[in-house]
Amino acid sequence: MFDTISPAPPDAILGLTEAFKKDPNPRKTNLAVGVYKDAGGATPVLESVKEAERRLLTGEKTKSYLPIDGSPEYDAASQRLVFGDSHEIVTSGRAVTAQAPGGTGALRVAADFVGQISPGATVWISDPTWPNHPSVFQSAGLKVATYPYFDPASNGVDFDAMLATLASIPAGDVLLLHGCCHNPTGVDLSTSQWQAVAKIAAERGLLPLLDFAYQGFADGLDEDAAGVRIVAEHCPELFVASSYSKNFGLYNERTGALTLVARTPEAAESALSHVKRCIRANYSNPPAHGGEIVRTILGDPELRRRWEGEVTAMRERINTMRHLFVETLNEKGVTRDFSFIARQRGMFSFSGLTPAQVKALRERHGVYIVGSGRISVAGMTEGNMEYLCEAIADVLKD
Ligand code: LMR
Repeated sequence: MFDTISPAPPDAILGLTEAFKKDPNPRKTNLAVGVYKDAGGATPVLESVKEAERRLLTGEKTKSYLPIDGSPEYDAASQRLVFGDSHEIVTSGRAVTAQAPGGTGALRVAADFVGQISPGATVWISDPTWPNHPSVFQSAGLKVATYPYFDPASNGVDFDAMLATLASIPAGDVLLLHGCCHNPTGVDLSTSQWQAVAKIAAERGLLPLLDFAYQGFADGLDEDAAGVRIVAEHCPELFVASSYSKNFGLYNERTGALTLVARTPEAAESALSHVKRCIRANYSNPPAHGGEIVRTILGDPELRRRWEGEVTAMRERINTMRHLFVETLNEKGVTRDFSFIARQRGMFSFSGLTPAQVKALRERHGVYIVGSGRISVAGMTEGNMEYLCEAIADVLKD
């Protein structure tokens, strides 16, 4: 059977890391994958995480299985991080949370759940979006369609077109929204736009699924949850897929959570029983270590304060890099206006470079960015900025 299989195309993001590793260019720079680098170019383990791990190493008593839906303390802490401690959704019990292997794992569990409860549903994703979104939903047997989102002319949201499409989506379909730091564009909805989207979703009976992978990377942990909370005000049912890869730096620990909000606690519990069946059939129960780290940090006021400081430092460094990037491009003689990059939020900058320019960057300079023109600002440093901007200036001449 295997002799007849032709190779699948490489992954649009992680496939570039594979190619990067093989590239002999000594100046090669990987700005494809969304992984935070500090000023020295390292992806550090956060100090709060190290301290939590020290405590876990001495305090851990067993490696026995977690429940199918994970640690109850972790699940509760995840819910509070999304909605705030005293939010009605948290206190009423009409939300349930299942620990999941990363944000992608959470999305896939949501997709499996929708595929079983509502097999005809289509998932509506933004154009553009994270390249893995369609695969996650299609792998669960769901159909995928797009709504307009990014307007290259203004480098903002094409909001009228977005609303017009949303107003035509049939009831019961899933509306995937990026909670903050839209990936790949870095362009988020304003408060009034969130309100309009939430209102339409509620009026049309759509099921919002918030992909929430960058909480803390735009303006702050609470500030970045504003969109999710607005949707929750209007829509009685929704999903939130949280990821702790970026804000806790727990990339390889695969640490995330799926929160399901229902109209009543009874409906939420009933839905959770189906979520658990999806999990059991997929990976049985979640890995524990990353979740234990998050639970330990969020449950200890001092550790939490340290972690919040570290999230702030990462966010501020990225924003400094955004400004330095725009300035350095100017210094290198680039006349095109890239000032919009300083206004984008989160780990990525949507550069507007063409696929041919992206290819030239890689082949001529060993600079790896995603085919859509997405550059990881989180991977820029003062050390690689000059080289990066010279390379971009060069390919812009083509
Ligand atoms: C990214 O968009 O680069 C990250 O979310 C990593 C990934 O899994 O694609």
